[in-house]
Amino acid sequence: MSQTPRQLVVLGGQGSGKGTQAKRLAERFDLELIGAGDVLRRIIAADTPLGRKIAPTVRAGKLLPDEVSSEIIAARIGDVPAASGFVLEGYPRSVKQSELFRANLERLGRPVGSTVFITLDVPRPVLKERLLKRHRQDDTEEIIEERFRLYDEKTKPIYDAVAAWAQVVHVDGNQPVPAVTATIINQLSDVKAQA
Ligand code: AP5
Repeated sequence: MSQTPRQLVVLGGQGSGKGTQAKRLAERFDLELIGAGDVLRRIIAADTPLGRKIAPTVRAGKLLPDEVSSEIIAARIGDVPAASGFVLEGYPRSVKQSELFRANLERLGRPVGSTVFITLDVPRPVLKERLLKRHRQDDTEEIIEERFRLYDEKTKPIYDAVAAWAQVVHVDGNQPVPAVTATIINQLSDVKAQA
């Protein structure tokens, strides 16, 4: 792996701080920030045929079909210049998406093996409290429960699935925001030392 991480993926339960940490890492390492939820919300706001198709699913907190989200994210990664790196959050969210992600990285000529998955571990009651404080349209109690259920069923199995081809680091996300960032940066330097 090069001295600076070039392909980071931030994973974690809803409200674990994926978006918050991804933004800070993008600034710290000069990486392009790709937030799956933000990309989707922008497409919905633009009111294109694709936006109208995906809006009901996203608003209900359900997952879009793996092929649809994978194509949208691959197109976004395709916009990142070859010499630049990116930090991705909110994708992949299922083992199938992680397989499509790997295939798309290969197709785009990106260095598959320099991908690092960062998982933010936060207890569920803390996640719920954070989300209810935020007042986003899809942050009702019922939708939050549905997203938690989907996370357990679909997203958690990714950690083991990607370990065969990428580095995976687990970070305690139940700390103040700057402390979480510092822990991630510290863990990334260990990853580099191993590489
Ligand atoms: P998305 O926008 O990605 O929502 P999410 O996964 O539910 O993630 P959140 O934004 O809720 O949480 P986060 O972990 O980013 O936390 P944040 O940093 O905001 O996706 C929305 C929808 O799009 C999905 O439900 C789905 O329908 C669809 N979708 C997206 N990706 C998809 C995919 N790959 N496939 C299919 N469908 C997809 O932090 C949360 C709050 O906590 C904030 O208020 C923040 O200030 C606070 N906070 C953060 N860190 C800390 C900390 N350390 N201490 C205290 N407070 C903190």
